[in-house]
Parts: sequence; C-alpha cells; structure tokens
Amino acid sequence: MSIASRLKVTTVAAGLAAALAVAPASAKNFKIALGDSGGSSQEVTGLAFVEALEEISGGEHTGTLFLNGQLGSEQDTVNEAAIGTLDMSLLAINNVTPFSPTVGVFSLPYVILSLEDAEKLTQGPIGEQLTENTIEDAGVRFIAWSYTGFRRLTNSKRPVESVADLQGLVIRVPKNEIMIDTYKAWGISPTPMAWSETFAGLQTGVVDGQDNPYTTINAMKFYEVQKYVTNIRYIFSIEPLVISEQVFQELSEEDQNMVLEAGKAATQASADFLRAKEEEIKELLVEKGMVISEPADNEEEFIKLATEAVWPNFYDSIGGIEQMNAVLAEIGRDPVSE
Ligand code: MLT
Repeated sequence: MSIASRLKVTTVAAGLAAALAVAPASAKNFKIALGDSGGSSQEVTGLAFVEALEEISGGEHTGTLFLNGQLGSEQDTVNEAAIGTLDMSLLAINNVTPFSPTVGVFSLPYVILSLEDAEKLTQGPIGEQLTENTIEDAGVRFIAWSYTGFRRLTNSKRPVESVADLQGLVIRVPKNEIMIDTYKAWGISPTPMAWSETFAGLQTGVVDGQDNPYTTINAMKFYEVQKYVTNIRYIFSIEPLVISEQVFQELSEEDQNMVLEAGKAATQASADFLRAKEEEIKELLVEKGMVISEPADNEEEFIKLATEAVWPNFYDSIGGIEQMNAVLAEIGRDPVSE
C-alpha cells in the first residue's frame, strides 16, 4: 500500500475512533419526517428543534430532517411513528385527525381566528389534553407546534371571491372529514388526496386548486401551477412535531426532558418566523405572478355556511359540545348550544 493510501486509511480510522469516543452509546440522531420542502414553516420548526436539542444536550443528541415527504405521506408517517419505525414527524394537524379525532377541533372552520388563539390553545390545558388523547389514540406525542398561518384557497382557473365563484372547481383537500364537509357546505364535492401527491395533481390538472398557508404555497412552489389565491381564513394551520411514544418511552427521563425543552424552543421559533415573514412571503407570491383576492362581504357567506353546517356534525368526535365550549372559552369566544 502506498504511503498516501496508508495515511488515508489511518486518518479515516482515527476519525472513526474519535467519533466513537465522543458519541456515547445513548447518543441519538432522531429521524424526522417532514411533509413540506425547504423554506417551509415545518423546516423552520424542525431546524430550530435540532439546534436546541444539540445545545441543550451539549452536542450529545441531534436530529436529521427528511424533507418533502421522502419518508412517506404525512398520514403514513403517523403509522410509522406509532409502531416505532420512525422517530418523529412534522405534519399538519389535519393529517393527525383521522388517527385521533379530538384534535379535529383545531380544524373546525373558523374556530381559531389568530396566531394568538393558536398559541393559547396549543400551549395551554387544551393542548395538554389533546397530547394525552393522541398518545392514547395514535401512539404519538406532540412535542412542538408549528404555526403556519391561515390556509388560503388557490386555483388555476379564475379569481374566487364568493361561494358562487367556487362552483365547478375541483379542489383537493387532505383526507380529513371536517375539511371535506366544509367544502360540501360551500356547495362543491372536493377531492381527497394525500399531500405528497398534491403538486402533481395540480400540475397535471387532475385538480384545479387546494388550500394551504402562504408559507406553504411558497415553499412548495405552488405559484408554478396555480395563479389565483383567495384570502380566506377558514382554518389556521397548526403543524405539530410528533415523536413516536414508543421511542419517547425508551429515552431516559433526562433525555425526555431535553426533547421537551427543545420542542418548546422550536414552537417559539415557529411563531417568530410567522410573525416576521408571513407578509413578506405573501408579497413574494404576488411577485411570482399570483393574483390575490379578498373574499366578498368580509367572508360572511363562507363563515355562515361552514360554521352552521359543519360544527354540530363534529361535536361528538371532538369530545362533545362541552369540549367545544371549553375551546371557545379558552380563546374568549361565546359558547354554542345544541
Ligand atoms: C395538507 O394539506 O395535507 C397539509 O396541510 C400540508 C402540509 O403539511 O403543509
């Protein structure tokens, strides 16, 4: 073997030995699935989590992000995490609801009316209760919350300002009963489709439109295949970071606390990102050629149809009308009655 090759082998071997010496047996590199691509709120939250975890653990633990649905559709990742073959996933709450119906309260149309409402609900007793329910129902634990902003309607055909304008459009929705019923209340039958298939669906014209927040529309480059945006605010998108409960329970108590602390830092980073960047990203979409319309009459028709037809149908699945009223009370809103 030449001196150069020998030196190379020695250097690699020394590097490996050093790495093994500094990485204790308990060191973790969490595998984290993300449904969205780079530049998304999900990525901001994921990176902030990894950075905080490395700092809090003194470099012992880290995480690796797998963007853009590389590890499967968002709903698939819940199953993977539940059986412990995936450590963590960052996904929209509407894709958790099929596995844990009580979190559906966060996707009921026009319940959450601001980022502040979303922070209050996720970081207070309601968030704690939903975390417990989701561990029980779905085998995953919420450890951080991304706040992605209101889901805006986009389409490739025409400006939509009223419910009448929506008629005839083929709109993709997640496989989520609440969202399907909301579009039905607006008079159309939407097309349920996995998030990982949505860009292709829009590009090939299988569907005309979809809804997601400005930050997501931008990160996913939907401006390449969609022209019109309607500034509706029917769902404020909350996107939790979940950890497999099985993986969480295998951690020492000290490591569990580090993960939870890092989750809090990631939650804060997500809120900061939305506050600082959402308006800028909206302007960017206009620069990319998107046309943004305001819904007519302050969205009154959309609101009335959706809340009257959809809310009562889901009281049972979210835990009863008492739970609905507990959520409304938490954000200072009037209760509903049967
Ligand atoms: C969806 O529309 O399925 C999700 O909200 C997409 C996302 O995770 O950003």
